[in-house]
Amino acid sequence: MPDDLINRDLDRVLAPIACANGLPNKHYTDPATIARENRAVLEHQWAALAVAADVPENGDAKPIEFLGQPLLLLRDDAGLVRVFFNICRHRGMILVDAPRKIQGAIRCPYHSWCYGKDGRLVATPHVGGPGQNQHEGIVRATLGLREVRSHIWRDVVFINLSGDAPDFEVVHEAALTRWAEFENWLHHGGENSRFTLM
Ligand code: FES
Repeated sequence: MPDDLINRDLDRVLAPIACANGLPNKHYTDPATIARENRAVLEHQWAALAVAADVPENGDAKPIEFLGQPLLLLRDDAGLVRVFFNICRHRGMILVDAPRKIQGAIRCPYHSWCYGKDGRLVATPHVGGPGQNQHEGIVRATLGLREVRSHIWRDVVFINLSGDAPDFEVVHEAALTRWAEFENWLHHGGENSRFTLM
């Protein structure tokens, strides 16, 4: 559905109650409308991706697809939970295809480029020819994994895929203020925060 028609329908929803219309059915089914909503709400704002408890130990990694983008949730060697694009900077191979613990570096399954858990490109085997692990055209410092802006609140990992949203604390100031009184007695992320469906 074209943007001008979407805007027209939204204007009618927001009109004074006496003349307002409900949202037409196609807003719930039209792929273009859903794509626009995804961009506005999930890509350019803070969206909940996972919980930090999904990667409880250093080195734990979990691939997650979000808005069609392959992402990698990872707890690094310092215990920091980070989110990277799960894409090798060489030829775009998916780096981690199933949840697992990373021992040492993240090794690309295609040509074995290796990345530290902090995203740095640390090894480029044979990139300059057999036995030559360096090449003047490959500047490792510029080819680390692309990190997604993230923020953890109450163990929930929020991401801002576009990278241009205001800070999480700014966007959600009212909610954070409201929740402040619960900070001392509500705990998230521990072993009692999960259950398993039988
Ligand atoms: S695609 Fe990853 S090393 Fe080549």
